[in-house]
Amino acid sequence: MLVLGIESSCDETALALVDEGRPLASVLASQADIHALFGGVVPELASREHYRYMGPLFDELMRRAGVGPQAIDLVCASRGPGLLGSLLVGVGFAKALALGLGVPFLGIDHLHAHLLAAGIDNELTFPSLGLLVSGGHTHIYRMEAPWRFITLGRTLDDAAGEAFDKAAKLAGLPYPGGAQLDRLARTGEPGALALPRPYLDNDNLDFSFSGLKTAAALWLEKSCPESWPRPLPSPEAAPKALRDFCAAFNKAVVDTLCAKTERALRRNPDIRTLVLAGGAAANSLLRERAAELMRAHGGRCLVPPPRLCTDNAVMTAYAGWLLGKEGYFHDLAMETIPRGRKIPEDMLCAPEA
Ligand code: KG4
Ligand code: ZN
Repeated sequence: MLVLGIESSCDETALALVDEGRPLASVLASQADIHALFGGVVPELASREHYRYMGPLFDELMRRAGVGPQAIDLVCASRGPGLLGSLLVGVGFAKALALGLGVPFLGIDHLHAHLLAAGIDNELTFPSLGLLVSGGHTHIYRMEAPWRFITLGRTLDDAAGEAFDKAAKLAGLPYPGGAQLDRLARTGEPGALALPRPYLDNDNLDFSFSGLKTAAALWLEKSCPESWPRPLPSPEAAPKALRDFCAAFNKAVVDTLCAKTERALRRNPDIRTLVLAGGAAANSLLRERAAELMRAHGGRCLVPPPRLCTDNAVMTAYAGWLLGKEGYFHDLAMETIPRGRKIPEDMLCAPEA
C-alpha cells in the first residue's frame, strides 16, 4: 500500500510517501526564516506560503520517488490541530487529489502522528504512554492502538515548547529559542536560581506553564545584569547568569513533565513503553530524564529520530498507513480542526473482506 502524507499544520509544507510503512521519499519546505522576521508564526503568511509550495513540492516528491500519482493508494493530510488556514491548504489539496485519483482520503490527527512516528524505526507496541511536547501542545495519552488514544492530561495554558520559546525570547535569545535555551542550559548551573515547579500540587495529569513563565520574567526583570546583551549577538557571548537561567528554566520544565509522566505510569501499571515526541522532545535533558525514568520503571523510552520529531510528512503518511491498512478512511466532507477544538471521532471503516 503506497500512502501519501501531507503536512501543513503550521510553518512547514511537507509531503511524503510511505510504502507498506517504509519511508520512500519526502520533501519539505520550511517557512522558519520568513516567520523569524516577525518573532513568531504569522498565520496568514503561513497559509499563503503553503499554497505557493504545495503543487511544486508534490511534483518534486513524485520525481524523487520515481512513481506517478496513479501509484498512490491512499491520500492523507494532517486535519488538525493547527492553524486553520494552513491546514485547509493541505486538506483541500489532499481531498482534490483523492477525488481525482479515485482513492480513499484520510485526515490525520497531527498529535497522534507525532507519537506514532516512534514506530517507523522501532517496534511500537500497545498500550504505550505517549508524552507529546510540541510548540503548540503538551499532552499525555494512553495509546491503546493507532486509532485509539485516550487523553490523560494536557496543558491548561502554554505548551512546553511555547514556554521554552517564550523564556528564550525574554532572555534575548533568537526565535525559535527552545533549542538555543537547551544548548546554553548544558553549560549553566540549574541551582543558581530558584524557579517554581508549576502545577504539581494536585492529583491530575494536566500541566500549566504560565506561572513558571511569569516567575522567569520577574527574575529576568529583577536580576538580569546590565552587562547581559539583549538580543544576544551570538550564543558564545552568553554570560554566566544567562547560562544559569537557561539551566534553571530547562530543569523546571523537565522536572514538571517527568513528575506527571511518573504519576501517569503509576496509574497505568500495565504500560512499559513511553513514547516521547514533538519538537520539544529534542530537548537533551528531557530525553535523558525520560530514559532514566523508564529504566527505573523496568520499561523503555522511544523517541523518534530528530528529523521525525519536528513537523514532517513522513509521520503523517506512516500514521495514515497504520490506519489505512485497517480499512479506515474519511468522507470528503471531513472537517478541518483548528487548535483548541477537539478532533471528532469520525473515521469510517471498510475492512477488507
Ligand atoms: O512539534 P514542533 O516542531 O512544532 C510545533 O509545535 O508547531 O515543535 C516546535 C517546538 C518549538 O517550541 C521549539 O522551541 C521546541 O519545539 N524545541 C525545543 C528544542 N528543539 C525544539 N524545545 C526545547 N529544547 C529543544 N532542544
Ligand atoms: Zn507538530
